[in-house]
Amino acid sequence: MKTRITELFGIEHPIIQGGMHYVGFAEMAAAVSEAGGLGIITGLTQRTPEGLKKEIRRCREMTSKPFGVNLTFLPAVTPPDYPGFVRTIIEEGIKIVETAGNNPAQVMPFFKEAGVKVIHKCTSVRHSKKAEAIGCDAVSVDGFECGGHPGEDDVPNFILLPRAAEELKIPFVASGGMADGRSLVAAMALGAEGMNMGTRFMATKEAPIHQNVKDALVKASELDTRLVMRPLRNTERVLNNAGVTKILEKEKQLGNGIKFEDIINEVAGVYPKVMVDGDMEAGAWSCGMVAGLIHDVPTVKELIDRIMREANEIITQRLTGALRG
Ligand SMILES: Cc1cc2nc3c(=O)[nH]c(=O)nc-3n(C[C@H](O)[C@H](O)[C@H](O)COP(=O)(O)O)c2cc1C
Repeated sequence: MKTRITELFGIEHPIIQGGMHYVGFAEMAAAVSEAGGLGIITGLTQRTPEGLKKEIRRCREMTSKPFGVNLTFLPAVTPPDYPGFVRTIIEEGIKIVETAGNNPAQVMPFFKEAGVKVIHKCTSVRHSKKAEAIGCDAVSVDGFECGGHPGEDDVPNFILLPRAAEELKIPFVASGGMADGRSLVAAMALGAEGMNMGTRFMATKEAPIHQNVKDALVKASELDTRLVMRPLRNTERVLNNAGVTKILEKEKQLGNGIKFEDIINEVAGVYPKVMVDGDMEAGAWSCGMVAGLIHDVPTVKELIDRIMREANEIITQRLTGALRG
């Protein structure tokens, strides 16, 4: 399949693995890129620019194909060393960056100067247009279904993607709820030129996370995610568990007066407990409704090949067949 996204990033298949905290290590990114998609290392999981440099080098040892780095701009008590991360990305010769959270206007001049292609992930048409206006090369349009931060507008992809297609000139991929060949064909029918997956890539053999997480994803249904931190206007879609139930109880009790400190135990430092130790009740970790469509743990290559085969069959057989009547 050839689209403006495959051309822009020099990849075989229009499938991107979105940045994922404590998942997007070199092993994950390399497996996706080796299978013909675009793998992405999650910059901030590395804590320091020096750590990111090592991770980029590790990834290069595992694949010679293009891969990117995710740079997430979120409010933080102690902000990460963003200038240092930007410098490392450029010095290490990375040519693709996925930005997310706040708009990346401040870092764009550095990336443009260095010939880095930027795909900004955002959850509204308004933010997508802003990304286009500040010179982003592409957008990842993240619908309400998505794992992680869906924003506060709650527009699902069946509306968000065609609206983005109406307004954008730059290419975009569909993000949130994408799992298989059906997702890819549907996303393309709605105007996207590829898809971005998070949750689905966690349930693969190569994902460098605890087996308990993969098992939980296979077991979960589309009813098992919850939205937390809505009163803080920092909404996150997470897999339900004992820690998440606690957050929701506190949100109910404290209402709009809730502060981050009230839920810090169930939110801060949870990722290593879940992804490394396999403690599935620890608290909030991002997970999409797409969990309901995850029924197995294939290798990344099996997953991507299956998606492309299914997409091909849907287009050439089911849809073309329907036209013939
Ligand atoms: C465990 C997990 C961690 C994530 N961490 C980040 C992150 O650090 N930065 C970011 O931009 N997106 C993050 N995301 C969002 C994904 O990149 C992607 O946009 C999202 O998962 C798409 O929705 P899906 O899960 O339905 O595929 C995370 C998602 C998951 C599931």
